[in-house]
Amino acid sequence: MSLPGAVTLVEVGPRDGLQGQKTVLSVEQRVALISSLAASGLSRIEAGSFVNPERIPAMRDTDQVLARLPATASVRYCALTPNMKGLDAALEAGVKEVAVFTGASETFTQKNIQCSIAQSLERFQPLIEKASQAGVLVRGYLSCTMGCPYEGKVALDQVASLAWELHQMGCYEISLGDTIGVGNPVRVRQLIEKITRQLSVEVLAAHFHDTYGLAMANLYAAMESGITIIDSAVAGLGGCPYAKGASGNVATEDVLFMLNGLGIETGVNMDRLLDVNTLVCSQGDFPNFSRTAKALLTARERF
Ligand code: HMG
Ligand code: MG
Repeated sequence: MSLPGAVTLVEVGPRDGLQGQKTVLSVEQRVALISSLAASGLSRIEAGSFVNPERIPAMRDTDQVLARLPATASVRYCALTPNMKGLDAALEAGVKEVAVFTGASETFTQKNIQCSIAQSLERFQPLIEKASQAGVLVRGYLSCTMGCPYEGKVALDQVASLAWELHQMGCYEISLGDTIGVGNPVRVRQLIEKITRQLSVEVLAAHFHDTYGLAMANLYAAMESGITIIDSAVAGLGGCPYAKGASGNVATEDVLFMLNGLGIETGVNMDRLLDVNTLVCSQGDFPNFSRTAKALLTARERF
């Protein structure tokens, strides 16, 4: 099986990385973080969420964050919008991409977005239509594709049919979330094989959390299956507040180290990314979960 020549990294640190943290970064800190991520060469960055601030305080004032980001043709910012209220705020903020999110398990979906899977799709339809009319791209997230923190096993057929449905509704890209990191390379391959019976692999992204240390192996399998879009978070921060025990996203630095080693193009500069790692960890006193960043920063100090 062959590997891709180039991969697009979608940086989700400013959203997934920060959303569940006890320490809430200020608007200025979030702007500094996103700007330095952009300066490292990342071309797609999830800048925040338009969600209920009582539930996710860390994503409050995402409109102000977006307003202060320098407009640049080299970076596309995205924001999560679970409903029309979120979309209207995102359109007002001038964002060019939004993301809707549902799950492959009923219990998780209910806890995360307070509705059933079917209701979430009903809610998304007018949202996707309105966004499309405004020329805004809509990404579709599917959580719990490898397993659910409440229900355990999730049927691959269910994931595949939801991925197809989201795409039919107008989502240009489907990000497959292994929300609690329970996937393995064989299951990843099986899932992609199932989904690509109906959808092109080009519309799929891998969004893997590293709870059990398998995210890198799973990403390798995903790339062998043709995936070229990978979600990751600087310093490996993150996790969904409604998926108990789920630790961070796979670290951008770790993914980049693997891709660089494999000769896969990303356009991202490791040295600059290490500066962002140092910045974000000091901003919120967050632990650094990136093994690559730890090793390279130690080597930087030594030499
Ligand atoms: P709801 O049905 O209105 O219910 O919203 P609610 O009880 O949560 O909220 C009621 C209050 O929220 C009302 O305010 C609404 O106006 C307000 P009140 O009248 O009480 O003052 N509200 C909003 N405020 C701002 N922006 C909005 C908005 N919508 C309602 N858009 C909803 C349901 C889902 C919107 C809400 O519960 C919510 O925002 N939840 C947070 C969900 C979330 O952010 N989850 C984490 C992200 S998903 C994730 O991490 C997984 C992912 O990474 C992939 C993976 O790893 O698997 C994407
Ligand atoms: Mg996530």
